[in-house]
Amino acid sequence: MYLLAIESSCDETAAALFELTERGSAPRLLAEEVASQVELHQAYGGVVPELAAREHMQSLPLLTEKVLSGQGLTLRDCDVLAVTRGPGLKGCLLMGVCFAKGVCVASGARLVGVNHIEGHLLAPCMDNPELRYPFLGLVVSGGHTEIVLVKGFGAYELIARTLDDAAGEAFDKSANLLGYPYPGGAALAAEADQAAGSRFRLPRVMRSTAGFSFSGLKTAIAVLIQKHRNELSDPVLRGELAYAIQDAIVDTLCFKVKQAMKVTGITSVAVSGGVAANAYLRKKLAQLKGVKLYLPGPGHCLDNAAMVGYVGALRFERGECMDLGADVRSRWPVEACI
Ligand code: KG4
Ligand code: ZN
Repeated sequence: MYLLAIESSCDETAAALFELTERGSAPRLLAEEVASQVELHQAYGGVVPELAAREHMQSLPLLTEKVLSGQGLTLRDCDVLAVTRGPGLKGCLLMGVCFAKGVCVASGARLVGVNHIEGHLLAPCMDNPELRYPFLGLVVSGGHTEIVLVKGFGAYELIARTLDDAAGEAFDKSANLLGYPYPGGAALAAEADQAAGSRFRLPRVMRSTAGFSFSGLKTAIAVLIQKHRNELSDPVLRGELAYAIQDAIVDTLCFKVKQAMKVTGITSVAVSGGVAANAYLRKKLAQLKGVKLYLPGPGHCLDNAAMVGYVGALRFERGECMDLGADVRSRWPVEACI
């Protein structure tokens, strides 16, 4: 059996193809493609939902054709379609879900709706078959920052969630203040990694509560950069600013993970989402006492369809198909997925 997975919740269009073998064995990833819309949105400093949706409409058939033809297959060979149903931008989700529904209506394939965050959360399971439940999942992306206790597949308990900005947003907004085009998170990290340290130290926020909050830090960063606005061409100063920003964001994430490990007694930590690509975060998390760290494989930190297909295959195995009349869910907390 073949499963085709579709992701279109934000500004990446992605398709992946899996082979489903016998019950209980992991789905086999055969092919995957991602088309990033980053350049399209750069001129606007952020994702423009309408433009993103139109771009998905153009890319979905092309990417689908690419993953299938590479394996000598066509849409008629797909038995299951797994598609991101939420959370995300409504118009973008609608593109992927309507595309998948169209295929299912035409071919009779079954449809499975997948939660995007559950995809991120379980991406480390897909790439590290030795990872066992229970584990703590740290999802850090441009839209989400949460720590989830993963007791088993579909058994999720929220430990902490951001009250305002996500960690990726904190990186991107800071990068913007330093003059990097959207999304500047990776560029800021690269500049920070060149610096040996920093003369600056930004505040550590929300230490006494369970949740995350990056808005106070964002203000402190804006004030600091404003203070040094006339010196931003100095590479040493820029490096030190970037270092201080990255250090403050990463330290906040590590502090909460350490707290969660202490409270739950669980030492397996799986990190996912775009910010999981950050080398400094990986290094600092790996230094936590007693931690066993699991990361997604290459290409599976940022938005991708493989993580959607992986969860879709597990949901399909449990008989959880989506009605062809069902709507998208632009808001859909991961702990509501059971
Ligand atoms: O998971 P993702 O592709 O999209 C969402 O679901 O939001 O994550 C994108 C986010 C962006 O904010 C981007 O700047 C950030 O991940 N990101 C990074 C790095 N690579 C990507 N942030 C910090 N360091 C990186 N190396
Ligand atoms: Zn994502």
